[in-house]
Amino acid sequence: MAQRRVGYFVGSLSSTSINRTLSRALIRVAPPALEFTEIPIGSLPLYSPDFDADYPPEALALKAAIAESDAVLFVTPEYNRSIPGALKNAIDWASRPWGQNSFDHIPAAVIGASIGSIGTAVAQQSLRGVLSFCNARQMTAPEAYIHFSDDVFSSDGEVKVESTATFLREYMSEFHDHIERVLTVLPRS
Ligand code: FNR
Repeated sequence: MAQRRVGYFVGSLSSTSINRTLSRALIRVAPPALEFTEIPIGSLPLYSPDFDADYPPEALALKAAIAESDAVLFVTPEYNRSIPGALKNAIDWASRPWGQNSFDHIPAAVIGASIGSIGTAVAQQSLRGVLSFCNARQMTAPEAYIHFSDDVFSSDGEVKVESTATFLREYMSEFHDHIERVLTVLPRS
């Protein structure tokens, strides 16, 4: 089985992000064939088309990191029933300049954790719309809306509740299958 490189985005800039904790949990339970590298978004300037002719180093690094990935995973909070501005800004950078959209045909999955009971469901729908326009090949099922609790997750990503660990393990196994299916017909060059 080929190793697959997954670049992952944490949509939060918080130093105590529960979504970063979720990303650690996902990496712990993922199939061994998946290798993970975080794609940082915190130092990107705000996108403007004025940069299209001469991208700054942070944005060039972002696009290079996606190019080196076989797939991307978005682990994001919900902010005001959508995705955080920092994540949208990163996606806007990666989608440009026109004709050089980094997400074209890339296998992708979305997941998120919230302290609220709907577990980022609205943000994920918003993100799915953005990724559709960017032509990413999204895993549509299973969906995963995580209601975060310290009783379930340790800060290092240990999942303390077996049913949650099983659910996340199956989610990542399905993501691996999805990556293989997409790359079979749409290999990354
Ligand atoms: C939130 N939060 C939140 N939660 C939610 O379920 N739906 C929402 O629309 C919002 N909106 C929102 C806006 C802003 C600006 C903040 C700062 C927070 C609460 C959010 O789920 C909580 O802060 C999480 O801890 C955010 O995830 P990270 O940053 O810890 O990964």
